[in-house]
Amino acid sequence: MLLGVNIDHIAVLREARKINDPDPLDAVPIVKRARADQITIHLREDRRHINDYDAKRIIENSQLPINLECAIDEKIIKKVLELKPHRVTIVPEKREEVTTEGGLDVSKNFEALKDVTKELQTNGIEVSLFIDPNPKVIKLSKDIGVDWIELHTGLYSNIYAMLFSNLGFTKHSIKELELPRSKLKKLLQLSLKELIDNTAYANSLGLKVAAGHGLNYQNVKEICKINGIIELNIGQCIIARSVFTGFENAVREMLEIIQ
Ligand code: PXP
Repeated sequence: MLLGVNIDHIAVLREARKINDPDPLDAVPIVKRARADQITIHLREDRRHINDYDAKRIIENSQLPINLECAIDEKIIKKVLELKPHRVTIVPEKREEVTTEGGLDVSKNFEALKDVTKELQTNGIEVSLFIDPNPKVIKLSKDIGVDWIELHTGLYSNIYAMLFSNLGFTKHSIKELELPRSKLKKLLQLSLKELIDNTAYANSLGLKVAAGHGLNYQNVKEICKINGIIELNIGQCIIARSVFTGFENAVREMLEIIQ
C-alpha cells in the first residue's frame, strides 16, 4: 500500500502566526527519507494554508510525485496547468468548511469535469476525483475518463471515532452519529463494506483506487486490508503525531502499519 503524505497542516501552523515557519517545503525531503511515496497538497481557493509560492517550490523541488488537490474552478485550474503537478485530485470545496466534508457532486458537474479532465490529461497530468463510495458516482467517474478515484473515508472515520475515541464526538454534524452504540457498530461495518465493494467495482472498471480523509493510526488498520486500494492519502494525524515524536518518525510509524 502506497502512502501519500498530506502536508497542508504544516502550512496551517505557519499561517497561525503569519510568519515563515514552518516551511512545508522542508517536509518534502523528510517524507522521502521516511520512504513514503507521494506528497499531497491542497491549493484551496481561499489559500488558507498552502499558497501558490509553496505549491511552485514544492513541485519544482520534490523528488517524490506531487498530488495537488483543488476545486473545479477556472482560475485554480489555470494555475494548476502552469504548476504541472504529477496528479490533480479534484475535490469539492466550500469556504466555510473546516475540511473537505464529502465527495464531489460528479453528476452535477459532469460536463465541466469531463472538460477539465481532458485538458489536464492532455498536459500530461493524471486526474483523480475525490468521491463518496457509491457505484453510480464511480460509473460516472469512469465515463469522465479519469485515471484515479479517491474514496472518501470520512464517514467510516467519524463512526470509528464515535465508537472508540475516549474524546467522543468529533464535531462533525453527521446525523447517524447520534445513534446508540449497537447501531453505530453496524454502521461501521456497513461503511467498511461500502468501501470494500466500491473498490472492487472501480477496479473492475479499470480505475485505480486511492482512499483518504480522517484516517489515523488506529482506524487505518481495517482500510489497509482492502484489496484493490493502491494508495492512502493521510495528513492531519501524521502532522499531529509529529508534534510529539517528530515528523519523520510519524511518517515511518504510519508506513509500518499500512505496508
Ligand atoms: N484526501 C483528500 C482528497 C483530502 O481532501 C484530505 C484532506 O485534505 C485528505 C485526503 C487527508 O485527510 P486527513 O488530513 O484527514 O488525513
